[in-house]
Amino acid sequence: MAAAVAQLLLFVGVVVSSFCLHGARGTTNMDDLDFIPELTQRQAFDSDDFIFKFKKTADLTPFGNLRPMFVDFNPALATLPGDGASQNLVTVGPCAINQPHNHPRATQISHLTEGELFFGFAEENGGRSFVGGNATKGQTVIVPQGVIHFAQNLGCKEAQFIASFPHRDPGTQTTASTFFKLPLSVIRATTGLTNQEIKKIQLSVAANPNPSLDKECAKRCGIKY
Ligand SMILES: *[C@@H]1O[C@H](CO)[C@@H](O)[C@H](O)[C@H]1NC(C)=O
Repeated sequence: MAAAVAQLLLFVGVVVSSFCLHGARGTTNMDDLDFIPELTQRQAFDSDDFIFKFKKTADLTPFGNLRPMFVDFNPALATLPGDGASQNLVTVGPCAINQPHNHPRATQISHLTEGELFFGFAEENGGRSFVGGNATKGQTVIVPQGVIHFAQNLGCKEAQFIASFPHRDPGTQTTASTFFKLPLSVIRATTGLTNQEIKKIQLSVAANPNPSLDKECAKRCGIKY
């Protein structure tokens, strides 16, 4: 009887430990990770896909542009283990702003490669309503995951930065355009404004796609708009 129990315990031990081993192996065996469909297409990607240029432009206005290297722009990023990584090359023209927005799935680390920018973010409810300051070429700015943040050029010269994310698809949600597309009754009750006032703001927000211009700064810098 004792031998049978010992044998049973041994059996359970072997099953549990092999399960644990399998679980542990799962973190290093790429076949077990959640991007198997993309991984099986790995052969479809060649060297060029891993040495990339910021070619395609997502947001583009006369005042600046955003060139993302997210997984939807470079599918080779889908082959990276874990949450992966991605980057954005952002050009912010004189007096322009990369409008307030948030990245729901990743912290952002931005390195300025040109000019000077006014960076800032708002912490979650209960935290500080503003954290930020001016950063210049050669400096790096950290933006915590999920918070609303912006990069504004208050100078008369172009600025540029590379934003890096520890996620293949950080996602972007632009604050003003998102909010003012919500149902009218929601905006009305939230802001206390009338339908007419809301319509005016909606038109104005729609007429100022990202990146947009600060007109006071533009006057100071002698920029026509
Ligand atoms: C950032 O720079 C702008 C433009 O030079 C200036 O007006 C502003 O006071 C600066 N802000 C901070 C927090 O230093």
